[in-house]
Amino acid sequence: MCGIVGYIGAKEKKEILLDGLQELEYRGYDSAGIAIIENNKLKYFKAVGKLQNLRDKTKDYTSSGFGVSIGHTRWATHGKPTELNAHPHLGKFSFVVHNGIIENYQNIKDELQKEGVRFISQTDTETIVHLFEHYYAKSNDSFDSFEKSISKLDGAYATLLISEASPDTIFFAKNGSPMLIGFDGDDIYFASSDTPIIGKAKEVYYLEDGEYGYAKDGEVKLFDKDGEKSFTTKPLATDKAMAQKDGYRFFMEKEIYEQSSVMSDTMIGRVLDDRVEFEELDESFFDGIENIKICACGTSYHSALTGAYLLERVAKIPCQVEIASEFRYKEPLLRDNTLFITISQSGETADTLEALKMAKRAGLKSLSICNVDNSSIVRESDRAILTRAGIEKGVASTKAFATQTMVLWMLTLYIAQRENSITKEILAQELDAMRHTPKALKVTEKLHNKLTRLSKRYLHGHGFFFIGRDIFFPLALEGALKLKEISYLHAEGYPSGEMKHGPIALADSELFTIALMPKSLHYEKIKSNVEELSARDATILAISPEPFELADDFVQTQYSSHPMLEFFEMMVVTQLLSLEVSVRLGNDVDMPRNLAKSVTVE
Ligand code: M6R
Repeated sequence: MCGIVGYIGAKEKKEILLDGLQELEYRGYDSAGIAIIENNKLKYFKAVGKLQNLRDKTKDYTSSGFGVSIGHTRWATHGKPTELNAHPHLGKFSFVVHNGIIENYQNIKDELQKEGVRFISQTDTETIVHLFEHYYAKSNDSFDSFEKSISKLDGAYATLLISEASPDTIFFAKNGSPMLIGFDGDDIYFASSDTPIIGKAKEVYYLEDGEYGYAKDGEVKLFDKDGEKSFTTKPLATDKAMAQKDGYRFFMEKEIYEQSSVMSDTMIGRVLDDRVEFEELDESFFDGIENIKICACGTSYHSALTGAYLLERVAKIPCQVEIASEFRYKEPLLRDNTLFITISQSGETADTLEALKMAKRAGLKSLSICNVDNSSIVRESDRAILTRAGIEKGVASTKAFATQTMVLWMLTLYIAQRENSITKEILAQELDAMRHTPKALKVTEKLHNKLTRLSKRYLHGHGFFFIGRDIFFPLALEGALKLKEISYLHAEGYPSGEMKHGPIALADSELFTIALMPKSLHYEKIKSNVEELSARDATILAISPEPFELADDFVQTQYSSHPMLEFFEMMVVTQLLSLEVSVRLGNDVDMPRNLAKSVTVE
């Protein structure tokens, strides 16, 4: 994900920017750039790929006097990762960096283009700098122009702007994307999270949404819709590892909380008003395809199972899912009317990669759904759709699962559109539900507190059954895997209708059943399955919008018309439950015993 660093002062700016951007590397990016104004002269450098490329380009440049500077690591959303699309974006005499999405950028761009403004990138960000210069041409007043520019923007942004029109000033604004200001005497720093300025700034102010202003002469002027306002700084943390976690106790916890915003990144430019688009795919890619086979491991296998329900039901295309390690040795029959999809967070899982190679040898078309660009699986596949989850550090996968599932849902609609197997009305309902997903993924304090409280009752027993039906069965599998991985307690995921065919023999008060009971899908069916368990004294933790009187514990979720919204909300509940059980047991949440983040061996 994108990162921002800014600095105003007399220190060497290039190093401050590059070191700061390095601290944000873990978020993922595909290009980077810096811009500096010193002695009234603008200088900028951009490079695609790793920061080292930018370091190489700037190796003969130093900036020793007073000046203003901004830097950015870009993770492509609008437009490919090219130098032209990399930030900072240039107008005629100003530069801007930006995180977030300007939703109305096309309208602004159209208006400016009518007035003869030339755009050189495909980004939404470039509109900010042209808008600024457009207003400046009329008023000759930099702050007024900046204020007018940001008042035109809809969407999420954290942005910094520098201009030869005010060579001693950095303008800033924040709405929806994080931004903070660091202080050390007359030196002023900006960043999209703490880490770039730890060890440099002593005090910090975290900007609120709707705040904007400028830094000049060692001072910051802050404004919001009501005019100028005062603010209070606080001491900046000194522990970088803690700061990388954005104040959360564990990476896994941070990643659970991040899911809501990450999901918007997954959808950007893909979920359009009336259809789903993938710039990675062209319609002819699906010519001759009559069947889909998905291969994956672990959590990725669970998202694949979820996707298979959607692909068959909505896109009306047959779909089988295989565990990669099994697939490799079963001598599968592969027909060339089959699209072979691999799913992997890391893109390096040996079993999945080998399965992909087998499918390719058999002449199948291949598509990967992956979080890591240029990984082995992405390189080996004919096409790849990136999940855009950002770097996932917790060994127990959370946001990777959420975004893989979302990509599969989007792919389902994409194929359904192409095959005309969906009506306009149903497509509109699906798209509407998709747009509500980030909301369904929001973690409230109330929910987290409730799961922290509940977790103390689930530290023992002789096992957990996570049960669900339909798409909630793979979610049950995933819930059980999460708990196993970080609590080391035995847990199984099961289709709830299958319990009576054997596992119900285990039922007693020490058997914990986590029942996924969505109201929008087969509620009555799963309810009677849970009643059967309750009648045999199993301890029931029910997760449902509908109060369930036989539940020993109950987590209430939202009523929703679309099962996928219930799916994502319940997913968060199961993730938080596992997290809190693990914390109470004193386990290493981010690096559980015996596990590796990426399994590159067979
Ligand atoms: O990187 P991949 O998605 O290919 O990894 C597959 C599994 O190893 C992975 O999902 C594993 O199950 C995780 N630890 C789940 O939390």
